Amino acid sequence: MEKKPLDGPFGVEISGLNLTQKLDAATRAHVNSAFVDNVVLCFRGQSFKTPDEFLHAVENLGRPMPPVTATYRLPGYEAIEELTNQATDKRTGDDLPLKRGGSWHTDHSNLACPPKATVLYAIEVPELGGNTEFTNLYLAYDALDDNTKQRIRGRRAFHAYLSRRAPRKLLTRTKAEEEGSSGCWQPLVREHPETGRAALYLNPMRCDAVEGLDEAEGDALLDTLYAHCEQPQFQYSHRWRPGDVLIWDNRCALHQATFDFDRHKLRYLHRIMLRGDAPRLAI
Ligand SMILES: [Fe+2]
Repeated sequence: MEKKPLDGPFGVEISGLNLTQKLDAATRAHVNSAFVDNVVLCFRGQSFKTPDEFLHAVENLGRPMPPVTATYRLPGYEAIEELTNQATDKRTGDDLPLKRGGSWHTDHSNLACPPKATVLYAIEVPELGGNTEFTNLYLAYDALDDNTKQRIRGRRAFHAYLSRRAPRKLLTRTKAEEEGSSGCWQPLVREHPETGRAALYLNPMRCDAVEGLDEAEGDALLDTLYAHCEQPQFQYSHRWRPGDVLIWDNRCALHQATFDFDRHKLRYLHRIMLRGDAPRLAI
């Protein structure tokens, strides 16, 4: 097993590790510390003959968690989703290709216990474009001025399923799905449960209000923080190769997919999220 930095300010590539094998405890611990230390981890050259092999591989990294909406689940699998640029919103009947994940967000932050990580397996990807981009929210938090840190530490934001301010639409939920995902208050600055470090915890798709601030003040604060996070020194853009398995830490990163490639080319990945804890306020 070899490690080398990815092409950006954070992230690590691991080669020489076959994830279809059940990893022993020492190797798992080694992989987990590479993951929490580097936020994004890429295992190159993986080859799964069946979805079950992918599922078992991911069980080396954590406990799989089903998505809130069942629409894009791989038939026969609760926790594996298909991510494809050729999907449309099957429920609304909109026949435009769905640009899933096409703006900055962190997965399922409207749940009391959002997924700690998300894992993607690249099956077919365009040669150019279709990257997944990441913002490191430890770095973004550390670079804030002291006044802003003081203003947001200990404060919470409300994460709805779909914020009134969201830049794109999300899948329509069934009534049953709505009940389990109505929204909740989350820390603006989150203490990472494994590293103990403070990170911003934001979601432009879901944040609807800031505790103790009126709507205009809350919106202005969120906009300032979002703009701050856009700086390239906090970002890594992953150029996919078929066979990549990428895992990222939702507790300290934003991500987005890019749709800058020929829409007739296929971008097809499998996705599994891993269960996480209730976010803790950094105080
Ligand atoms: Fe996502």
